Amino acid sequence: MDSTADAEAFWERHYRARRAWDARVNPVLAEIAAPLNSGAALDLGCGAGGDAVWLARRGWHVTAVDISTTAVERVRERARELGLAGRVAAEQHDLATSFPAGGFDLVSAQYFHSPFPLLRGQVLRTAARALRPGGLLLIVDHGSTAPWSWNQDPGIHFPTPAEVAAELDLDAAHWSVLRADMPRRPATGPAGETATVIDNILLVQRTGTE
Ligand SMILES: C[S@@+](CC[C@H](N)C(=O)[O-])C[C@H]1O[C@@H](n2cnc3c(N)ncnc32)[C@H](O)[C@@H]1O
Repeated sequence: MDSTADAEAFWERHYRARRAWDARVNPVLAEIAAPLNSGAALDLGCGAGGDAVWLARRGWHVTAVDISTTAVERVRERARELGLAGRVAAEQHDLATSFPAGGFDLVSAQYFHSPFPLLRGQVLRTAARALRPGGLLLIVDHGSTAPWSWNQDPGIHFPTPAEVAAELDLDAAHWSVLRADMPRRPATGPAGETATVIDNILLVQRTGTE
């Protein structure tokens, strides 16, 4: 199997094995997006779809993308159950090789991590270029490992906001960094367990067209 097939198989197994589709909104996304006017949003690596549904409920038109067909179908089904089918377009993509069409007011990449090569820098640079003028790119990475995470590799290095910004290498004439920090927050795992976790946050705004 090549690495795309491995990645697809890994994330398919992950989502097929999931019994409870706990789909809560990610707290940093909620904090950043709550005061915004709704528009077109793109959720990169949407997983169980908590963010896509939360945004759609607030009037956003959301393109929700994941490599896992099971995740994408579940998000589509959930949107339909909630009467949000007209506001959620769930699409299967391996973002390393294909990217959804369109321009966006908000692109969100929440914990867009994988044990397989992701070409993250390339994907996030494409995401920055898919922003409409004034649009926001929100990248939230883990800054620590939660006890319930699938990834318990003790040698793991989560990219800092400064490293992500450097990887994006965006022209300061057209994009500005609005926020780059690493706050702690209390978190609750799938079985109700709690821990303090660190989020690495980078928020970029497209200020002009290239
Ligand atoms: C750590 S999970 C985060 C999921 C979700 N954003 C959340 O906050 O719960 C990473 C997600 O990225 C997806 N993913 C991994 N590699 C991908 C790729 N190459 N293209 C698209 N999605 C990918 C996975 O299927 C998974 O849903």
